[in-house]
Amino acid sequence: MTRIGIIIGSTRPGRNSEQVAHWVHAQAVQRTDATYELIDLAKHPLPHLDEPMSAMSGRYQNAHTKEWAEVIGSYDGFVIVTPEYNHSTSGVLKNAIDYLYAEWNNKAVGFVSYGVAGGVAPWNTCGWSPVN
Ligand SMILES: Cc1cc2nc3c(=O)[nH]c(=O)nc-3n(C[C@H](O)[C@H](O)[C@H](O)COP(=O)(O)O)c2cc1C
Repeated sequence: MTRIGIIIGSTRPGRNSEQVAHWVHAQAVQRTDATYELIDLAKHPLPHLDEPMSAMSGRYQNAHTKEWAEVIGSYDGFVIVTPEYNHSTSGVLKNAIDYLYAEWNNKAVGFVSYGVAGGVAPWNTCGWSPVN
């Protein structure tokens, strides 16, 4: 069965992302043609990118990178729940994206964004197209 990860894109204390992501999950599980799981960045703490080689090389050196790669690599697609921070996405989400490369490739992605101005900016500042 197709596995979709719903990424909670804020780790801020008191974050709204958790509530939004749980709502997304509740809508998604009404479908029966895929499974949906929450991926909470707060439970996958990553330092500011500290890999010496580009993610494109696939030569990950750090244990936290290898663990993150295993998590992301196990999904077929993603719904990224992102706040709008300064007309962009959150730093923690961008950092988590930048850590990996192959694990994201050729996978579908959808965005759910929110913020005081409606979350119009973040999805196109993640620097992604749905298929690499
Ligand atoms: C650092 C920071 C920057 C923000 N910048 C924007 C912004 O540019 N546009 C907007 O609509 N909301 C902005 N907001 C409001 C957030 O989108 C809103 O508080 C949202 O709930 C934050 O997500 P979170 O609670 O999951 O962390 C900003 C909030 C923070 C903390």
